[in-house]
Amino acid sequence: MNAEPRYNDTFYENTTNYSKIIDVICNTTTSLQDLPTPINLKTLFRNANPVEIEVGFGKGRFLLEASRQNPEINYIGVERAQKYVEITHERFEKYIRHYAIDKGSGIFKNVRLVWTDANYFLSRYVPEESIQAYHIYFPDPWPKARQQKRRIFRNKEFLSAIMKTLKSDDGKLYVVTDFAEYFNEIQERLAKWTNLQPSSEFVGYENIATNFELKYQREGREIFRKLYKKA
Ligand SMILES: C[S@@+](CC[C@H](N)C(=O)[O-])C[C@H]1O[C@@H](n2cnc3c(N)ncnc32)[C@H](O)[C@@H]1O
Repeated sequence: MNAEPRYNDTFYENTTNYSKIIDVICNTTTSLQDLPTPINLKTLFRNANPVEIEVGFGKGRFLLEASRQNPEINYIGVERAQKYVEITHERFEKYIRHYAIDKGSGIFKNVRLVWTDANYFLSRYVPEESIQAYHIYFPDPWPKARQQKRRIFRNKEFLSAIMKTLKSDDGKLYVVTDFAEYFNEIQERLAKWTNLQPSSEFVGYENIATNFELKYQREGREIFRKLYKKA
């Protein structure tokens, strides 16, 4: 099971030119290339609150609910598909319009959408030991044998960036998938990172489902969850 050697080159070529970071409340878009590496998280959010990252936010249901319910936590969502970044941006705007949210009230000032490849963002922009939790929900399973090398949990640079940027004191990694075989592979691969301990419970975000989770729940599919803690 080799990591795909061209993975990073391919995605970096496609992401660096248009990579952006969106503030849904100020409605500002900043080119990622204009930001320092690593990014200054306190400057980005204008506070020193803990920061959590969702990798591959899709249609953004988790990101919206988590940021709405936890105003004292800052959330960065990273998504490489333009279509889903647009859908999620629109989802926040619709919510703001529907509930006539006062943009000065503070709601959603704790969330930023990043349109780029997660590995590119994590390995360049995220400071060491700065992240309280990572959320990786329904990562693409790439079921065909010849495509499995694209699985994000096979990318050693990505895993190493997660380990490096998670806070040592109780940094968390939440993983959810409906794909049993990939779930086993993820657990096997993460078992090699000895400073990451699997937890017997999945606590903290049980009440927030992603778009994929809602769909699969309706279909009655089994869903596998694991919470890891950095020791
Ligand atoms: C199966 S969808 C799950 C979406 C969402 N997490 C959910 O549960 O509803 C996987 C998402 O991850 C995104 N994705 C895959 N690889 C990525 C990467 N390297 N960087 C950023 N996003 C990625 C895809 O574009 C897609 O939106």
